[in-house]
Amino acid sequence: MHQDVEKILFSQEQLQARVRELGAQITRDYAGKEVAVAAILRGSYVFMADLTRAIELPITVDFMSVSSYGSGTSSSGQVEIKKDLSDPIEGKELLIVEDILDSGNTLYYLSDVLRARKPASIRICTLLDKPDRRTRPIRADYVGFTIPDAFVVGYGLDYDEKYRNLPYIGILKPSVYGG
Ligand code: IMP
Ligand code: MG
Repeated sequence: MHQDVEKILFSQEQLQARVRELGAQITRDYAGKEVAVAAILRGSYVFMADLTRAIELPITVDFMSVSSYGSGTSSSGQVEIKKDLSDPIEGKELLIVEDILDSGNTLYYLSDVLRARKPASIRICTLLDKPDRRTRPIRADYVGFTIPDAFVVGYGLDYDEKYRNLPYIGILKPSVYGG
Protein backbone atom coordinates (compact mmCIF):
# COMPACT_ATOMS: atom_id res chain seq x y z
CA MET A 1 0.00 0.00 0.00
CA HIS A 2 1.16 3.55 -0.77
CA GLN A 3 2.52 5.40 2.29
CA ASP A 4 0.05 8.28 1.82
CA VAL A 5 -2.96 5.95 1.86
CA GLU A 6 -4.68 5.38 5.19
CA LYS A 7 -6.86 2.48 4.15
CA ILE A 8 -7.83 0.58 1.00
CA LEU A 9 -11.57 0.92 0.38
CA PHE A 10 -11.84 -1.14 -2.80
CA SER A 11 -9.22 -3.55 -4.09
CA GLN A 12 -8.42 -4.04 -7.77
CA GLU A 13 -10.49 -7.25 -7.70
CA GLN A 14 -13.52 -5.57 -6.08
CA LEU A 15 -13.37 -2.77 -8.65
CA GLN A 16 -13.16 -5.20 -11.56
CA ALA A 17 -16.11 -7.22 -10.30
CA ARG A 18 -18.33 -4.18 -9.73
CA VAL A 19 -17.43 -2.60 -13.08
CA ARG A 20 -18.34 -5.85 -14.84
CA GLU A 21 -21.74 -5.77 -13.09
CA LEU A 22 -22.34 -2.18 -14.16
CA GLY A 23 -21.42 -3.06 -17.74
CA ALA A 24 -23.86 -5.97 -17.73
CA GLN A 25 -26.64 -3.79 -16.32
CA ILE A 26 -26.03 -1.08 -18.95
CA THR A 27 -25.95 -3.76 -21.66
CA ARG A 28 -29.38 -5.00 -20.55
CA ASP A 29 -30.90 -1.53 -20.11
CA TYR A 30 -29.85 -0.27 -23.55
CA ALA A 31 -30.46 -3.54 -25.43
CA GLY A 32 -30.94 -2.88 -29.17
CA LYS A 33 -29.57 0.66 -28.93
CA GLU A 34 -26.32 2.42 -29.62
CA VAL A 35 -24.89 4.38 -26.72
CA ALA A 36 -22.80 7.56 -26.86
CA VAL A 37 -20.54 7.21 -23.82
CA ALA A 38 -18.97 10.46 -22.64
CA ALA A 39 -16.37 10.55 -19.89
CA ILE A 40 -15.59 13.55 -17.73
CA LEU A 41 -11.81 13.85 -17.63
CA ARG A 42 -9.53 13.34 -16.00
CA GLY A 43 -10.69 11.30 -13.03
CA SER A 44 -12.85 8.88 -14.99
CA TYR A 45 -10.25 7.71 -17.51
CA VAL A 46 -9.49 4.39 -15.82
CA PHE A 47 -13.14 3.64 -15.03
CA MET A 48 -14.11 4.56 -18.60
CA ALA A 49 -11.59 2.14 -20.10
CA ASP A 50 -12.82 -0.74 -17.95
CA LEU A 51 -16.53 0.08 -18.12
CA THR A 52 -16.70 0.44 -21.91
CA ARG A 53 -15.03 -2.96 -22.30
CA ALA A 54 -17.75 -4.46 -20.11
CA ILE A 55 -20.57 -3.07 -22.29
CA GLU A 56 -21.60 -5.47 -25.05
CA LEU A 57 -23.36 -2.98 -27.34
CA PRO A 58 -22.35 -0.72 -30.20
CA ILE A 59 -20.96 2.41 -28.52
CA THR A 60 -19.05 5.56 -29.34
CA VAL A 61 -16.70 7.20 -26.85
CA ASP A 62 -16.05 10.87 -26.31
CA PHE A 63 -14.42 12.98 -23.63
CA MET A 64 -14.86 16.33 -22.01
CA SER A 65 -12.97 18.13 -19.34
CA VAL A 66 -14.22 20.59 -16.75
CA SER A 67 -12.46 22.67 -14.14
CA SER A 68 -11.75 20.69 -10.99
CA TYR A 69 -10.69 21.30 -7.43
CA GLY A 70 -7.16 22.38 -8.25
CA SER A 71 -5.20 21.34 -5.21
CA GLY A 72 -8.04 21.64 -2.69
CA THR A 73 -10.37 18.92 -1.48
CA SER A 74 -13.75 20.62 -1.89
CA SER A 75 -15.57 22.00 -4.90
CA SER A 76 -15.46 25.73 -5.61
CA GLY A 77 -18.98 25.71 -7.03
CA GLN A 78 -17.63 27.22 -10.24
CA VAL A 79 -17.67 24.82 -13.19
CA GLU A 80 -15.92 25.67 -16.43
CA ILE A 81 -15.68 23.57 -19.60
CA LYS A 82 -11.99 23.20 -20.42
CA LYS A 83 -12.47 20.78 -23.31
CA ASP A 84 -15.81 20.08 -24.93
CA LEU A 85 -17.07 16.86 -26.51
CA SER A 86 -15.73 16.33 -30.02
CA ASP A 87 -19.00 15.05 -31.54
CA PRO A 88 -22.62 16.25 -31.53
CA ILE A 89 -25.01 14.36 -29.23
CA GLU A 90 -28.36 15.40 -30.69
CA GLY A 91 -30.67 12.38 -30.90
CA LYS A 92 -28.10 10.12 -29.16
CA GLU A 93 -28.50 7.96 -26.06
CA LEU A 94 -25.97 9.81 -23.91
CA LEU A 95 -24.31 8.05 -20.98
CA ILE A 96 -22.12 10.36 -18.90
CA VAL A 97 -19.32 8.59 -17.06
CA GLU A 98 -17.96 10.26 -13.93
CA ASP A 99 -15.46 9.15 -11.30
CA ILE A 100 -17.23 10.51 -8.24
CA LEU A 101 -20.40 12.43 -7.45
CA ASP A 102 -19.63 14.68 -4.49
CA SER A 103 -21.33 18.10 -4.04
CA GLY A 104 -23.05 17.51 -7.38
CA ASN A 105 -21.93 20.88 -8.77
CA THR A 106 -20.13 19.42 -11.77
CA LEU A 107 -22.92 17.14 -12.97
CA TYR A 108 -25.70 19.57 -12.08
CA TYR A 109 -24.16 22.13 -14.36
CA LEU A 110 -23.12 19.68 -17.07
CA SER A 111 -26.53 17.99 -17.28
CA ASP A 112 -28.07 21.36 -18.10
CA VAL A 113 -25.49 22.17 -20.75
CA LEU A 114 -25.77 18.75 -22.38
CA ARG A 115 -29.58 18.54 -22.19
CA ALA A 116 -29.74 21.75 -24.24
CA ARG A 117 -28.07 19.83 -27.10
CA LYS A 118 -31.14 17.58 -27.31
CA PRO A 119 -29.85 14.03 -26.88
CA ALA A 120 -32.59 11.35 -27.00
CA SER A 121 -31.77 10.50 -23.37
CA ILE A 122 -29.21 11.34 -20.69
CA ARG A 123 -28.09 9.01 -17.93
CA ILE A 124 -25.25 9.28 -15.47
CA CYS A 125 -22.93 6.47 -14.42
CA THR A 126 -20.61 7.28 -11.52
CA LEU A 127 -18.13 4.90 -10.00
CA LEU A 128 -18.42 6.47 -6.55
CA ASP A 129 -21.16 8.43 -4.81
CA LYS A 130 -20.70 10.52 -1.66
CA PRO A 131 -24.35 11.43 -0.92
CA ASP A 132 -23.53 13.06 2.44
CA ARG A 133 -21.79 15.91 0.66
CA ARG A 134 -24.51 16.70 -1.87
CA THR A 135 -25.57 20.34 -2.22
CA ARG A 136 -27.34 20.00 -5.60
CA PRO A 137 -30.44 17.96 -6.45
CA ILE A 138 -28.76 15.42 -8.69
CA ARG A 139 -28.56 11.64 -8.66
CA ALA A 140 -26.81 9.05 -10.80
CA ASP A 141 -28.63 6.29 -12.68
CA TYR A 142 -25.75 3.86 -12.13
CA VAL A 143 -23.55 3.90 -9.02
CA GLY A 144 -20.57 1.62 -8.49
CA PHE A 145 -20.19 2.19 -4.75
CA THR A 146 -21.68 4.58 -2.22
CA ILE A 147 -18.97 5.83 0.15
CA PRO A 148 -18.78 7.91 3.33
CA ASP A 149 -17.40 11.45 3.40
CA ALA A 150 -13.67 10.81 3.02
CA PHE A 151 -11.20 11.97 0.40
CA VAL A 152 -10.26 9.03 -1.81
CA VAL A 153 -7.61 8.52 -4.48
CA GLY A 154 -6.60 5.89 -7.02
CA TYR A 155 -8.17 4.17 -10.05
CA GLY A 156 -8.12 7.53 -11.83
CA LEU A 157 -8.93 9.76 -8.86
CA ASP A 158 -6.32 12.27 -7.79
CA TYR A 159 -5.23 14.61 -5.11
CA ASP A 160 -3.29 17.50 -6.69
CA GLU A 161 -2.94 15.37 -9.89
CA LYS A 162 -1.20 12.54 -8.05
CA TYR A 163 -2.19 8.96 -7.13
CA ARG A 164 -4.32 8.39 -10.27
CA ASN A 165 -2.29 5.30 -11.14
CA LEU A 166 -2.93 3.40 -7.91
CA PRO A 167 -4.78 0.23 -8.98
CA TYR A 168 -7.10 0.36 -5.93
CA ILE A 169 -9.21 3.09 -4.31
CA GLY A 170 -7.93 4.23 -0.93
CA ILE A 171 -8.61 6.92 1.65
CA LEU A 172 -5.89 9.55 1.55
CA LYS A 173 -4.21 10.33 4.87
CA PRO A 174 -5.53 13.74 6.00
CA SER A 175 -1.95 14.76 6.88
CA VAL A 176 -1.23 14.81 3.11
CA TYR A 177 -3.65 17.69 2.54
CA GLY A 178 -3.14 19.29 5.91
CA GLY A 179 -6.37 17.97 7.40
P1 IMP B 1 -18.63 17.69 -7.36
O1 IMP B 1 -18.76 18.71 -8.44
O2 IMP B 1 -18.45 18.29 -6.00
O3 IMP B 1 -19.69 16.62 -7.39
O4 IMP B 1 -17.22 17.01 -7.57
C1 IMP B 1 -16.95 16.12 -8.57
C2 IMP B 1 -15.46 16.09 -8.82
O5 IMP B 1 -14.73 16.41 -7.63
C3 IMP B 1 -15.02 14.71 -9.20
O6 IMP B 1 -15.10 14.52 -10.59
C4 IMP B 1 -13.59 14.68 -8.69
O7 IMP B 1 -12.71 15.19 -9.66
C5 IMP B 1 -13.58 15.59 -7.49
N1 IMP B 1 -13.68 14.83 -6.21
C6 IMP B 1 -14.69 14.85 -5.33
N2 IMP B 1 -14.45 14.05 -4.27
C7 IMP B 1 -13.23 13.50 -4.51
C8 IMP B 1 -12.42 12.56 -3.79
O8 IMP B 1 -12.75 12.04 -2.71
N3 IMP B 1 -11.22 12.25 -4.36
C9 IMP B 1 -10.81 12.76 -5.55
N4 IMP B 1 -11.53 13.63 -6.26
C10 IMP B 1 -12.73 14.01 -5.74
MG1 MG C 1 -10.05 15.72 -9.49
